Amino acid sequence: MILLDGKKTAADIKEEIALEVNELKNKGGKIPHLAAVILGDNGASITYVNAKVKACERVGFGSTLIRLSENTSEEALLNEIAILNADPEIDGFIVQLPLPKHIDDQKILMAVAPEKDVDGFHPTNVGKMALNLPTFISATPFGILELLDRYNVETSGKHVVVLGRSHIVGSPMSILLSQKRKVGNATVTMCHSRTKNLKEITLQADIVIAAIGIPEFLKADMVKDNVTVIDVGITRLVDASKKSGFRLVGDVAFEEVAKKSEFITPVPGGVGPMTIAMLLKNTLLACQRNS
Ligand code: GUN
Repeated sequence: MILLDGKKTAADIKEEIALEVNELKNKGGKIPHLAAVILGDNGASITYVNAKVKACERVGFGSTLIRLSENTSEEALLNEIAILNADPEIDGFIVQLPLPKHIDDQKILMAVAPEKDVDGFHPTNVGKMALNLPTFISATPFGILELLDRYNVETSGKHVVVLGRSHIVGSPMSILLSQKRKVGNATVTMCHSRTKNLKEITLQADIVIAAIGIPEFLKADMVKDNVTVIDVGITRLVDASKKSGFRLVGDVAFEEVAKKSEFITPVPGGVGPMTIAMLLKNTLLACQRNS
C-alpha cells in the first residue's frame, strides 16, 4: 500500500509557487493576491478559509479576508463581489460555500468575474472545463488530478468509479477523468444516492473517488484488491478524547480498505491540503493571465 501523501505533495507545490513568487518579485512583477469572502461563523468554514489565507501568506501572496455577518443581504454580498471584480489589486477571489439559506448560491457564483473565479465555479469556467479548454479547474478536482499525476497513478483505460455528483467534486471529477488529458482517458461510472447495486459497481473499480460526505461509507468488501482510493470526505465527528472535541473522518473505512489498496489517500492529510495548494496555483495563474 502506498499512501498518497497530500500534505507533503501540497508542501512541494507551495514551495514551487513560492519560488515563482520570488521570481516575480525580482522582476518587479505583480504579486498574486487572493481574497476570500465568508459569511457567518460556521466553525469548519472559518477553519478552511483561514487555512487558505495563511497559505497565501506562506507563499508570498497578498491576501484579503472579508468576514461578513450571517445576515448579510444578497444585495450587499453582490455589491462586495462587484468591488472585488473591479479591484485591480485582486487577481482572484472566492466566496466560501455553503452560503446562508436566504442567499441564492448560483446568483452569487455567476456574479464573480470569470477571469477572477479561481474556484472555477462560474458557468463560463465550468463550461470551458467540460470542453477541455484552458480555464480554472476547481481546486478539489484539480488537486486530485495533481496527486494522481505526481504519484504516477495510471488512469488511462482504467475504470474509475466516482461516488457523488456534487458540482464541486463528483461531477467535475467524472468529466475530467474521462477527457483526453494526461491524467484522464479513464472509463468513468458516476454513482449517487439513487444508484442500484452500488457494491457490484465499486467492486469493478480500479480507482474509487469517494465524495459523498458519509463517514466510513466505503468498506473493504466493496473494493477489489489493488484498488486506488481517493477519499474526499471530511466529516467532523464528536470525540471527547481530542483537544478540539472532534476528529476528522473520511468517506472511506481507511484501516480495512488500505489493506486492499495499491494507493490510498489518508484523512486528514490527503485531498484536503491539495485543495489549498491548487487554489494558490489558480491564483498564480489568474495573476499571470491578467497582468
Ligand atoms: N466549500 C467547500 N469547498 C469549497 C471550495 O472549494 N470553495 C468554496 N468557495 N467553498 C467551498
